[in-house]
Amino acid sequence: MPVYLVGHLGSGKTQIAIESAVDFTIQNKINDHLADDLEAWFQEHKNASEDDAKCAFKRLNEKWKAYYEHIYEVGSEEEIESLQPLFISGSHNLTYEDMFVEKTLSLEQNFSSDSFESYLNTMVDDYLNWLQHHEHEIVGLKPEEQLQLKVQIWKSFSDLLIAKNNSFGTTIQKIEREILIALRQGRPVIVDELNTIAMQNLIALNDLLQRHAGQTAYITGIGPVKIAKGFAFIGTGNLSTQMVQYEGTNQLNPAFQSRFVTIEYNYVPQDLVGDLNINVDDTNNELYRVILSTLANREGAIQLPNGPESLKELYRFAQLSRLTQNVFMGKISEFEADGKSTVELREAVLSIRNIIHVLENWNCGEEKSLTMALWDGFISSITNADDQNYILSQAVRYGFFSEREGWSVRSKEVGEGITNYEEIRSNDSDYVRGPLTTYCSYDIIGLLYGQKPRHKSVPLQLRQTIGDEAAHIETLKLSDIQNMNQEIENLEYTSFLIDYLKETGDDN
Ligand SMILES: Nc1ncnc2c1ncn2[C@@H]1O[C@H](COP(=O)(O)OP(=O)(O)OP(=O)(O)O)[C@@H](O)[C@H]1O
Ligand SMILES: [Mg+2]
Repeated sequence: MPVYLVGHLGSGKTQIAIESAVDFTIQNKINDHLADDLEAWFQEHKNASEDDAKCAFKRLNEKWKAYYEHIYEVGSEEEIESLQPLFISGSHNLTYEDMFVEKTLSLEQNFSSDSFESYLNTMVDDYLNWLQHHEHEIVGLKPEEQLQLKVQIWKSFSDLLIAKNNSFGTTIQKIEREILIALRQGRPVIVDELNTIAMQNLIALNDLLQRHAGQTAYITGIGPVKIAKGFAFIGTGNLSTQMVQYEGTNQLNPAFQSRFVTIEYNYVPQDLVGDLNINVDDTNNELYRVILSTLANREGAIQLPNGPESLKELYRFAQLSRLTQNVFMGKISEFEADGKSTVELREAVLSIRNIIHVLENWNCGEEKSLTMALWDGFISSITNADDQNYILSQAVRYGFFSEREGWSVRSKEVGEGITNYEEIRSNDSDYVRGPLTTYCSYDIIGLLYGQKPRHKSVPLQLRQTIGDEAAHIETLKLSDIQNMNQEIENLEYTSFLIDYLKETGDDN
């Protein structure tokens, strides 16, 4: 079933579309492997019980899952590419041809490929052949007539050769585009910003959208095309509301939209009240989790100036962001808006995209405070004065732009105009980065999900790695494994610290 993901700007629609398409492709591939493997397993274990079969299924499933996870992380370019969906960026100018098949004209010019000598040789051969075949007819003629005939024949051959090779002209070449490739190869295709495409061009998708894999869809200009297994269609779009108008988007025709499962995907949840509770073991603070995972390096570690202080500040940043998202979406309760019922944001919002931008600008406090990054990376570039004013005032409410740090933000009336840096910066106190705290991946998991879970059994990957020793492992007590696990964690932590000290050249 085709899916249409709608929501506000920068909420992560494109990202989730891509990730679910990859999951879908991997699951399809795993299913194919499992079908073959289980078939072979049943041949070898004809008398197996249902429980044995379930066990075999579980083992094979884990094996293929691990295989594709590995490929997705460290596979070759082609391997990773084969798991990725095909992708089209929608725009008003996108035509039917851009989606299915592009026709281009190519100039044909046969003569240029061979040398003149070879053309001449071919012609001489043909001419001599002809004379040989018609020898007895020629000998009956008078010598002048013979000469005349030979000249005529030679000229005819020469004309024919030119006519044959001189077909300068244009031919139409067809280049298959994303949707057709996806249909034939059985891969998912994402049409991003679907509702910016002109409706008359989208209508071409109508037949295709109600067919399933294995069926044949009729594609205008191409004819019937069999839909290969693995094909899927995901569209994304911004939903205009009374408050926010997305320029260049249009309302989908109801008949067209009825072919989709429409899912609204908006900003991730975040508690707006309360301070950072170290044990945030709930899903209400997903935005804070996204922020920390964005900051983490490949190993999952984060270095922050004044560790706990920065964590609290990032938590408040998550709350401020979510508040702007609520106001932007028009979902705001009186409490959140300080009792004012008229608050609105028309253009600016701390969407995940803008949050990432601010965090990159901050660079974990390398050169500036988070407030300065919030100003440089977002608030200073807001062009709608009322939006900027509201976001600034809420940032102050969440503890940013404090006087202690050299700011003085004055709240402005609606319509008062844009705020610039000089207005709100009272002194140019230098920023000094506080002492760094390093959180390794285990700390971060602990911070985000509370108490780290303990292993209840020997993990499959560990058993596979140890191989022959597995039998011995089975006799180990769970507590032994837990202790070993703890030791490994400690070692990883130490190695991270040593690397860091080497990098900073700190011999002490
Ligand atoms: N859950 C998430 N965790 C981390 N990063 C995310 C998450 N969701 C989205 N992002 C990142 O946020 C940015 C914006 O996401 P994306 O482009 O998917 O938004 P969108 O809803 O498609 O925006 P638009 O409406 O402008 O097309 C991207 O850089 C994406 O990688
Ligand atoms: Mg998008």
